[in-house]
Order: sequence, then structure tokens, then C-alpha cells
Amino acid sequence: ILKREPLYSGKVKSIYEIDEDSVLIEFRDDITAGDGKKRDVKKGKGHLNALISSKLFEVLNKEDIPTHYLGYIDPVYMVAKKVEIIPIEVIVRNIAAGSLCKRYPFKEGEELKRPIVQFDYKSDEYGDPMLNEDIAIALGLATEEELKKLRELALRVNDTLKRFFDEKGIILVDFKIEIGRTKDGHLVVADEISPDTMRLWDKETKDVLDKDVFRKDLGDVVSKYEIVAKRIGCI
Ligand code: C5P
Repeated sequence: ILKREPLYSGKVKSIYEIDEDSVLIEFRDDITAGDGKKRDVKKGKGHLNALISSKLFEVLNKEDIPTHYLGYIDPVYMVAKKVEIIPIEVIVRNIAAGSLCKRYPFKEGEELKRPIVQFDYKSDEYGDPMLNEDIAIALGLATEEELKKLRELALRVNDTLKRFFDEKGIILVDFKIEIGRTKDGHLVVADEISPDTMRLWDKETKDVLDKDVFRKDLGDVVSKYEIVAKRIGCI
């Protein structure tokens, strides 16, 4: 399968077709930030993200949240259902950080009274602008009904992962998920869920355990991902 041309090769993952219903996702050691303007290769990062992502999809599947996940293959692969990705980055925030604090008068680290669900248009060309429902529908990205389901799914994922990480001494600050449509028309959580796509802080020390370490040059990013993998029982 790996000898074939990838179906798709993104900034940090490559997708290979297994058959008409499933794909193999390869987590590479690449790391990027700022829409790919900052990039590097970090040995061992692909392995850790494949492990962590697989574990988190297993946690969601156990809660009957539909996902594309079918299995993990050591060291850097995930088997998943083939889906059509909806080009919307569904972001959920529990604590103010990142772009929310750049754009609005929230204080970094401030706990939000209730989670914020935010839809961004997944488009490098347009710089991932924030959407509202009307724009998403007008662009034909999703129907009104699908947008409602995206929000519901995102909040269920948040409830599940927030609790899961809390038990491991980690605060789930925010995260991004992508949703796909399966062949039979179901919406499932797809892509990856890893420290590349979440903000995770140590509950006691507030130590940053996610890609912000790379974005802000805070130290060795792989050792932080290793802490996450250990805490949630992957290694
Ligand atoms: O940058 P911002 O604060 O909007 O990011 C919110 C959350 O979504 C962060 O956890 C970030 O890692 C994730 N995200 C992502 N991919 C993007 C944008 C944001 O995984 N393109």
C-alpha cells in the first residue's frame, strides 16, 4: 500500500488508499506552524501523534461517538474509513488562548463560562477565516442540519476528552476536529486528534504540552508529546 502514490499528502500526514472503503494514514515527523510558514522535522513525533490520536479515537468510539478510526499500526499508521472531509475546522474552547486572545478581549488562561464552538473555513488560500452559519451554507460547505450535527458532535467530543484528560492531570484548553461524510452518508469525527491539534496544559504546573511549544519556541516539543503519551497510557 505504501508503494502506491498517496491519495493525498498534507503538511504532516500522508493518506494512502487501502480499498474503496478505507485508507492508511501516515503520521510523518514534520511539524509546521503559521500555515506552514514555520516548519521543521522532529524525530519520533509521527509515532507519538499516531499513538495519541489512535488512543483518543478509541476513547471516543467507546462513548459511541462516531469516528473514522478503525485501528493503529505500529509505528506511525492509523487505518480509517474513507470519508469526504467537510472543509470546516471545528474548534472547541474551554479556556481562552491562542487566536481568541489575539482577536477579542479575553485574558489568556481565563476559564470560559461555557465552551465556545467556532467554525473556520479550511482554506490555505483564504487563511482559514472564521465562518458563520450563513456563510458556510452559502459556500455550500454543509447544510443547516449538518452544521447543527457538527456542533453537537464537537460538544460531545469536548465532554468526553475534557473528562478523560482531567483524570490524567491534564487540562484540555481547546482543540480542532474535522468531520467527514462516510459513503453511507454518516457524519464521523475524522483526521487526527493530537497535541498538534489541541492545547493541553499540565493541571498542576500549567506546563504547555502541545504544539505551542514549537509555535512559541518553548523547548523540546517531542519530550512534551511524550509526557502526554505516558499520562494517557500509550507508552
Ligand atoms: O489558533 P487558535 O487559537 O484558533 O487554535 C485553536 C485550537 O485549534 C488549537 O488547539 C489549535 O492547535 C487548533 N488548530 C488546529 N489547526 C488549525 C487551527 C487551529 O489544529 N488550522
